[in-house]
Amino acid sequence: MERLKESARLMIVSDLDHTMVDHHDKENLSLLRFNALWEAHYRFDSLLVFSTGRSPTLYKELRKEKPMLTPDITIMSVGTEITYGNSMIPDDGWVEVLNHKWDRKVVTEETSKFPELTLQSETEQRPHKISFYVDKAKAQDVIKALSGIFQKLGLDVKIIYSGGMDLDILPQGAGKGQALAYLHKKFKNEGKLPKNTLVCGDSGNDAELFTIPDVHGVMVSNAQEELLQWYNENAKSNPKVMHATERCAAGIIQAIGHFGLGPNTSPRDVTKPKEGDSESIHPNHELVKFFLFMEKWRRAEIENSEEYLSSFKSDSDPSGILVHPSGAELCLSDAMNKIRSWYGDKQGKQFRIWVDQVSSVPIGSSTWLTKFYKWEQSGNAPFSKKPNSFIMILAGNPTPTFLHVHQTWLDGSAASKDQSTWLL
Ligand code: GLC
Ligand code: MG
Repeated sequence: MERLKESARLMIVSDLDHTMVDHHDKENLSLLRFNALWEAHYRFDSLLVFSTGRSPTLYKELRKEKPMLTPDITIMSVGTEITYGNSMIPDDGWVEVLNHKWDRKVVTEETSKFPELTLQSETEQRPHKISFYVDKAKAQDVIKALSGIFQKLGLDVKIIYSGGMDLDILPQGAGKGQALAYLHKKFKNEGKLPKNTLVCGDSGNDAELFTIPDVHGVMVSNAQEELLQWYNENAKSNPKVMHATERCAAGIIQAIGHFGLGPNTSPRDVTKPKEGDSESIHPNHELVKFFLFMEKWRRAEIENSEEYLSSFKSDSDPSGILVHPSGAELCLSDAMNKIRSWYGDKQGKQFRIWVDQVSSVPIGSSTWLTKFYKWEQSGNAPFSKKPNSFIMILAGNPTPTFLHVHQTWLDGSAASKDQSTWLL
């Protein structure tokens, strides 16, 4: 990863469905709590890796449905596809590794002889992954029979059962665990092996993540029977693996605390405006807190008092300005008046703000240039990735203050014609 110059302080490798993403949490609160924690305290020196069974098609669908961050690395199709960064550049080296002793045609032929197997949708059939549904009651017998056949044919494949219904067949060298081992090796060769790795999962295809040397692991409280059974048989004595008492992303936050891997208080859980400031003052943290304030203010979840506004005011330089993409300028005191008038305009609505890929570079002894993406969800409307924004923060004492806020549109953004939409 080019983004970090040194070893990551923490690399989180997390499954998505029922691990990072809780499909029973309509408000997505645990995910939003994780997002705020990550952007405020980890994004700048750590790595976020999503490792999902989903194909690229279904992964992109999930990103439209749930308030997810942009990971540094995306591993899809049960460890058979690795991509990097925002633009998801594929790892061709990994494709070559997987081609070894893999014959998709033979696997397709042999599996077609099993009436118990129902092929999953076309999108989930990938170059190094063939996926079926199979009844829970029949799964073990089918897996045994298939293994026997493949062994006889000298085919080195891996059969994985997940969620009490999904059966995936992959090259032996594939899978979520092997993909992580491959990344670890790559980082090691660059002299950038992460200082700590935390793997997170809930189902069968996550089991091998917990077998990679030196990683910490968390099975979320809602983990599937097949993973818990695997744990009881294989990993129970490993103190680096825990079964959380919290669901999904809340279980991941719990594990960060349990293993002492770093800060584990999400800024979303801090109610007083200045609470927690003493720990560390970092522009990324200030930015996260600012947008959480905006969300709570507009949802009327905090009191309509000058105390809150003045806490923001003290965070802004009196001569500070806001620059709109159209070129229009607004001084920060006018911006304050705008904010004042927005109090409660989203009350009772499903309004959320989260920031993504926050990065700050020092541009002076106490000045930072902070770049980030801001996402918004309003009601049931699809998320909008709000204008790509630039912020300059004067890192004075004791807290950094906003000096100059410059907002730019993302390319092709439909919102670019709407001059009334300010960053704040
Ligand atoms: C995801 C994939 C599916 C796979 C399952 C378990 O749901 O879409 O193809 O079988 O994960 O790995
Ligand atoms: Mg899962």
